[in-house]
Amino acid sequence: MSIKNFSEIIPQNRRVILRCDLNVPVKNGVIGDDGRIFASLSTIKELLDNNCSIVVIAHLGRPKGQINPDLSLQPIAKRLGELLNREVKFSTEILGIKNVAQTLAPGEILMLENIRFLENETSKDEALRNKLATELSEYGDFYVGDGFGAVHRKHASVYELARLLPHCAGNLISNEVKVLEKLSSNPDRPYGVVLGGAKVSDKIGVISNLLDKVDVLIVGGGMVFTFLAANGMQIGKSLVETDLVPTVKDLLLRANSLGVKILLPSDIVVAKEFAENSQPSVVSSDQIPMDQMGLDIGPDSARAFADEIKKCKTVFWNGPMGVFEFANFPMGQRLLRRL
Ligand code: 3PG
Repeated sequence: MSIKNFSEIIPQNRRVILRCDLNVPVKNGVIGDDGRIFASLSTIKELLDNNCSIVVIAHLGRPKGQINPDLSLQPIAKRLGELLNREVKFSTEILGIKNVAQTLAPGEILMLENIRFLENETSKDEALRNKLATELSEYGDFYVGDGFGAVHRKHASVYELARLLPHCAGNLISNEVKVLEKLSSNPDRPYGVVLGGAKVSDKIGVISNLLDKVDVLIVGGGMVFTFLAANGMQIGKSLVETDLVPTVKDLLLRANSLGVKILLPSDIVVAKEFAENSQPSVVSSDQIPMDQMGLDIGPDSARAFADEIKKCKTVFWNGPMGVFEFANFPMGQRLLRRL
């Protein structure tokens, strides 16, 4: 499905359903980093300037169809209101609020509770996703997709809902697409890609597509253990996608034949548990003890990665190098400070 952007189709005087990615770190109701809320402002402001009302749909974490107060979007609605300096209404009910949504006046914003509290949002059953999307579609007459971090998900509010209403992409997505087009066509060289985050499976398509375009690929984060496993290393209790080990092996061979430099961490911060207060220690990446798991890149790796990144004229960075949410595992974060 090709998606038009604001410059081609500006919704005016519409009742807009806006899908955002407001998946920010929240602990005890306190937002750790409001970057994603900030990033959504441009589209929201443009819609308000164009006399639209807005129903914001978003998710937080992975509640798997269960109501989880720790994953409520309420603090996020409050923060959005502060940033916009106007009221953002909040509905704990997601379904059955057609009358509320349809009577929003131009300039009014209503945020719905975490859409993933409903299991049909992420259901594998297309009919169930369609059912939810149809219910949601009654809340507006135009759909704007602006949840860049979630846009690849085949979820009811991302995929099916967009098909039921006239739609376009918001500024965030349009701008990201523009940058990605430049990165995949004509980047300034050397061109480095830094990949992190939990899962290879989420990024394998990106890695594969970029491989013949980049000069250096730097891998960290949870996904790196599948790479280390593909190189035959012992990874202890670290996160691994065993079924993707052969794919990663092929990828490494392809990179080699294309002359792409692949940088994997030489040292790893490990701990016994995936927990904030787990005692960290640094080990060589080929000597992760069987009872430990890797949670961050080590100091030597951070240094080597930073040196390589500094040589690049274009850097595409996608995903964190470690579990930055835990104060004990900040090495990937420190990598940023070296640049
Ligand atoms: C993200 O944080 O990467 C996006 O919000 C998507 O979240 P998800 O990986 O839980 O679908």
